[in-house]
Amino acid sequence: MSTIGDRKVRRLFIRTFGCQMNRYDSERLVEILGEEDFQPVDDYRQADFIFINTCTVRDKAEQKAFSYLGRLKQLKRSQPGLVVALGGCVAQQYGEDLLRRLPHLDLVVGTHGVSRVPAMLARYETTGERQAFVDFSYDFGDESDGRSQLCRPEVSSYVTIMRGCDNFCTYCIVPMVRGGERSRPSDEIVREVASLVECGVREVTLLGQNVNSYGQGVAEELDFAGLLRRVAQVEGLLRIRFTTSHPKDLSLSLMQCFADIEPLCPHIHLPVQSGSDRILKRMKRGYTREHYLRLVKELKAIREDVAVSSDMIVGFPGENEEDFQGSLSLLEEVRFDALFSFKYSDRPQTAASRLDGKVEEKVKLQRLQTLQSLQERITFEKNEVQVGQTTRVLVEGPSQVGGSQLSGRTPQNRVVNFQGTPELVGEEISVLISAGHAHSLEGVVCVEDNVNLKVVKERSWCGK
Ligand code: 5AD
Ligand code: SF4
Repeated sequence: MSTIGDRKVRRLFIRTFGCQMNRYDSERLVEILGEEDFQPVDDYRQADFIFINTCTVRDKAEQKAFSYLGRLKQLKRSQPGLVVALGGCVAQQYGEDLLRRLPHLDLVVGTHGVSRVPAMLARYETTGERQAFVDFSYDFGDESDGRSQLCRPEVSSYVTIMRGCDNFCTYCIVPMVRGGERSRPSDEIVREVASLVECGVREVTLLGQNVNSYGQGVAEELDFAGLLRRVAQVEGLLRIRFTTSHPKDLSLSLMQCFADIEPLCPHIHLPVQSGSDRILKRMKRGYTREHYLRLVKELKAIREDVAVSSDMIVGFPGENEEDFQGSLSLLEEVRFDALFSFKYSDRPQTAASRLDGKVEEKVKLQRLQTLQSLQERITFEKNEVQVGQTTRVLVEGPSQVGGSQLSGRTPQNRVVNFQGTPELVGEEISVLISAGHAHSLEGVVCVEDNVNLKVVKERSWCGK
């Protein structure tokens, strides 16, 4: 703990595993605890409160969270004042049991409990009572708590529009740990987007497990396409993205949005999971390979330059060589712009965990490697085609490459690294692509196309 004036400032360290939903919850927690005089620190050994936000969607993610927690045992022993909390999907799944199993854990905060953390902490600090909150009853009313009051210097931000999922794909634990689908009222979403834009945010990504079915449980008659149109009217908002979409719910009216909503970026993440009808059926995905291919074709007919990314699982129970070949040929046929691929793992309480025909670990690994090298070739070829083209890039910040390189994204969500100075962060600029790599592009800022941008004109490093 440190002191600023007569305020006691406590130090907060958050480690986030998993999806964008967890990242969003972690950002909210920083803001909520900021109101309680907590300041984030980069080193967990300096912290008074450590919050581990966990993911349980795949076995590996869960193991990572537990091994991280295990490492804190020693620290907790040497710093008895330290409070350790576990949040997110692992917390939701195992609940109070975790307190029994892990004596160095103080708080367990389920997927709906982020706004309860200050009260849980206060109770722990006054009574020493270790607690678990895994209640599903949740009101979206407090979703934007702390969010709109505090401005953070970021270019792009997530906004949750719905939580939970009603689909019960047979491999998936999400409905068990995130509960049923609930949408947030559109007025609240639009208000949050507007206040983020006021703080300087230029791009929002609307988040939900299945954004296409937005609107359930909301009193107004508004579907996801309608919501996009409302959000697009927020003045000053440059770009809109959304994730994730379920192919079975992708409507023509939503596809049409790519043609006529200007700030909507031409990119869709549309998880396919398998290229075999037999496996898709066992997964209960509700569409066939042909239907998926038709959707991609329709999307491209509506907007030629739309980028499509996807998720794929290998080694689902019962997947044979022919099924796997179906996944490979689907990759060749669609030529995804990006692909996230995973080895199937059994998750508790899921229907697939009870299916027969489990695939050997060795075979799963082999299939994953084959699939990933095929996709790497495709992504590389697609990136190489970009060379020589000029594209709009929203500059996000320093590049991971280091030096004075900046990084940004094209409308299609491709990462571009280029030489630049920090004044460009938050600007949308034209960049000439000079090289294509396996995971990113390299470019040069174009002076001619950015003449209206004072910062570009004045710098000598840029220019063709
Ligand atoms: N095993 C492997 N991958 C899974 N996913 C979800 N559940 C499992 C599982 N049991 C993958 C899916 C999903 C992504 C978020 O994680 O591809 O789209
Ligand atoms: Fe899981 Fe399927 Fe829901 Fe996605 S749509 S969260 S894969 S149950």
